[in-house]
Amino acid sequence: MTRLRLAVFGSGYGSNCRAIHQAISDRQLTAEITVIISDQEKAGILDFAKEQGIPAFRIASSDFASLTDFHHALLEILKQYHADMIILAGYMKKIGKPILRAYPNRVLNIHPALLPAFGGKGLYGKRVHQAVLDYGAKITGVTVHLVDEEYDHGPVVMQKAVPVLDHDTADSLAERVLQTEHELYPTAIRLFAENRVRIENRKVIIMN
Ligand code: GRF
Repeated sequence: MTRLRLAVFGSGYGSNCRAIHQAISDRQLTAEITVIISDQEKAGILDFAKEQGIPAFRIASSDFASLTDFHHALLEILKQYHADMIILAGYMKKIGKPILRAYPNRVLNIHPALLPAFGGKGLYGKRVHQAVLDYGAKITGVTVHLVDEEYDHGPVVMQKAVPVLDHDTADSLAERVLQTEHELYPTAIRLFAENRVRIENRKVIIMN
């Protein structure tokens, strides 16, 4: 089986990227992280890239005269590293149309709630978990979805529920949800690596 070549984008610590990398090392996932991209200078995900010797770039639209130039530079990097798929792992920027067009149904994101609940613009990080607690929801979870032009909106690939406990704080909930993210993301990527995904409108059909 050929190895799926992943470009992982992140703005933060990169624990999901680390979990994906671990799944690859453990041979749970036939893939390769060929490049890591961050918009943030001081992102843990870039430290991880350095530790592992994975090519990495700090690149943000603010470095460029226009969005067109930024997208052009980004696409050049993706091409240079022969990325088959883009994996958003805590990437805080919206993915532009030129990138989505170059990677149709090939950009994945992970969201720390059960979409369409507790998602959309402004709902990221701790804010998601606080919103779940404020609402009094009994169940939250993780969603892996394809990325389209709207925040947290593309077709759902996989979801897994996580119970909300009475004594939960945003931190304790975030921690439990994150553990589930680390299991679910490599599992979802594996479906693509094994070519088992068919997409019909909003429906992601998983073939055996
Ligand atoms: C995760 O909770 C993910 O769901 C969200 O951002 C967080 C990233 O964490 N999109 P990490 O950088 O992978 O540790």
